[in-house]
Amino acid sequence: MNKLLRRLARCSLLRSAALGGSSVTVPEGYLPFYVGEEMERFVVSADLLNHPLFINLLNKSAQEYGYQQKGVLRIACHVILFRRLLQALQEGEEASSCEHDLRRLLIWKHVIQKGDAVVDATCGNGHDTLALVNMVADELCSGHVYSMDIQESALQNTACLLDKSLDPHKRGMVELFANCHSKMEEVVPNGVTVRLVAFNLGYLPGGDKTVITKSETTLLGMKAASRILASGGLISMLVYVGHPGGMEEYEMVEGFASGLQVNEWICCKLQMMNRPLAPILVLLCKR
Ligand SMILES: C[S@@+](CC[C@H](N)C(=O)[O-])C[C@H]1O[C@@H](n2cnc3c(N)ncnc32)[C@H](O)[C@@H]1O
Repeated sequence: MNKLLRRLARCSLLRSAALGGSSVTVPEGYLPFYVGEEMERFVVSADLLNHPLFINLLNKSAQEYGYQQKGVLRIACHVILFRRLLQALQEGEEASSCEHDLRRLLIWKHVIQKGDAVVDATCGNGHDTLALVNMVADELCSGHVYSMDIQESALQNTACLLDKSLDPHKRGMVELFANCHSKMEEVVPNGVTVRLVAFNLGYLPGGDKTVITKSETTLLGMKAASRILASGGLISMLVYVGHPGGMEEYEMVEGFASGLQVNEWICCKLQMMNRPLAPILVLLCKR
């Protein structure tokens, strides 16, 4: 892999130098990549290339596109996932939650269609909201994301991330609410059904760790989500069990999911058996 990286660096730098011009200029210490079928161009800090998640991606890409690619390297990954991976690596997120995040996003992509309405029930720092708006946005910007959090700082962080990441049309597709998710039906207009409701439980990363999601309100939130969810839609719950109160909340989520009618819901979970404290992904699919 080191050989591949060195060769890529050489090819990329040669190509950048050969092409010249500001639109293809690559800052020192960065490498350009084309990502996904869309061939969207990204410039990535060389420091991130040795991260195990990035190395996996490069290996996968080399298998798909060959080791003899000329010029700017192609990465075999959905653009939305790649953007999220970069964010996570830049912010030094733990590999375990980052891996779960990528799995969640892949699953969401299978469920969500352009133009859909979706809910981010715990917007936190805004990463999920940003991924969601990019998934629902069609050419007319007709999709919609209803995002909420009980903490003002979380809403500010989300607004800040959206403002710097989205053009004004896409930005206009997101509404932020200072609201408990148990009351999500008050912000999603009457008669609107949503394709996905995402819960990312626990505390705000980088924020006050004593403000956590609570079993009672999470349960009410899940019930509300189940009422406004369209047929074929998904409630996605990432449940952290490593902090005080986390395991109790997970047991509540599991209990609720286990009690749903089998002819109306498909419920499953993704849990790392060799990492007991890694977050657990619970998926409730409405038939
Ligand atoms: C793990 S963070 C969410 C991370 C976020 N999804 C992201 O992409 O950055 C959990 C968030 O849930 C929020 N929260 C806690 N209780 C809530 C409630 N009852 N309703 C809505 N949000 C709540 C917290 O303030 C915190 O920001």
